[in-house]
Amino acid sequence: MSVRQDTIFKQFLAPLVENILIDREALKQFQQSINWEKETTRITNPRLTYPDYYQSQDFHGIKGGYLNPEAAVYYDSITQYVLPPSEPIVRQGLIERIRVKPRKILDLGCGTGSTTLLLKQAFPSAEVIGVDLSPYLLVVAEVKAKKAELDIKFKQANAETTGFDEASFDLVSASFLFHETPPEIAQTIVKESFRLLRVGGEMIVLDANQHTLRQTEWLTEIFEEPYTKAYAAASVDAWMTKAEFAKVQTDQWWWVHQISQGIKPILNNTSTSVNSQTQVSYNNPTFDHSAGLPAPA
Ligand SMILES: C[S@@+](CC[C@H](N)C(=O)[O-])C[C@H]1O[C@@H](n2cnc3c(N)ncnc32)[C@H](O)[C@@H]1O
Repeated sequence: MSVRQDTIFKQFLAPLVENILIDREALKQFQQSINWEKETTRITNPRLTYPDYYQSQDFHGIKGGYLNPEAAVYYDSITQYVLPPSEPIVRQGLIERIRVKPRKILDLGCGTGSTTLLLKQAFPSAEVIGVDLSPYLLVVAEVKAKKAELDIKFKQANAETTGFDEASFDLVSASFLFHETPPEIAQTIVKESFRLLRVGGEMIVLDANQHTLRQTEWLTEIFEEPYTKAYAAASVDAWMTKAEFAKVQTDQWWWVHQISQGIKPILNNTSTSVNSQTQVSYNNPTFDHSAGLPAPA
C-alpha cells in the first residue's frame, strides 16, 4: 500500500497500524483468495462513468484511491483504528437513531459494507441494498455479507444518480461518504436521497463532526483528504434543510463524529403522488443521548 509522504497518517499512524496492529499476512492471504478481475468485472456497471473528483484523488492517504484491491483489503483494518471510541460504538449510533421502521433500505457509498451489514441485522425483514463506486470495495462487502449469512444486494452506482425509482425506499443512509466528496456533490446526493425516499421516509448520515473539524484544524490534516476542509466549512444539516427534509437534526457523536437525520415530508409541489405511496411506519428509538449532544451549527 503506497501512501503520501507528508501526512500525520504517514508519519505517525501508518507505521503503527501497518507494522504492529495489522495482520499483513492474513490480509495478503485474503487478497490472494479473490479473483479480482473476475469478481470486479461481474459487479462493474458498464454504463457507469466515474466522476472526475473520484478518479483524480487519493483517499485515506492511499495512492490510487479506492479503485484497487489493496484499498479494498486494507480498508476495514485501518478504519477500525480511526473511529474513536470504537468502530462498533460509532456505527451503532447511526442504527439506534433510526426513527422509521424501514422495509427497503439504501446505503449510499457503502464501501466494504460495514454499516450495510448492521442495517440488515437491525432490520432483518427489510430489503437492503448497498451502492458504491468502487467495484473492489463492493466485492469485499459481498464476501462479508455472505460470511455473516445476510441477504444484501451490492451494486455499483453513483450516489448522485443511482438509477433507482423515485419514492422507492423508506431509509437512505450514508456513513463517512460526505467528507470525501466535494460539497456540491454531497448536496446532489442529499437531493437524490430525497427523491428516492417515500413520504415519511428518513435519511440518516454518519460522518465527521463539522463543528469539531472547524475548531481543530489538525484533524483535517490526518489523511490530507482532498475535500475534508470544504466539508468542515459546510453543514450537512443545512444541505438537508435546503433539500426540503423536515425534522432535520444533527447530533454530536463522541465529539469527532456527527449523525444528521431528516424526514421526507408531504410536499404540496411534489410531482410524487402521496396516495400512491405506502405509509412508512415509525420506530420509537430508546437511545441514550448522553454521548450524543446536539452539534453546534
Ligand atoms: C470513507 S468510505 C465510507 C465507506 C462506508 N460507508 C463506511 O462507512 O465505511 C467512502 C466511500 O464512498 C464511496 N463514494 C465516493 N463517492 C461516491 C459516489 N458518488 N457514489 C457512490 N459511492 C461513492 C467510496 O468509494 C468509498 O467507498
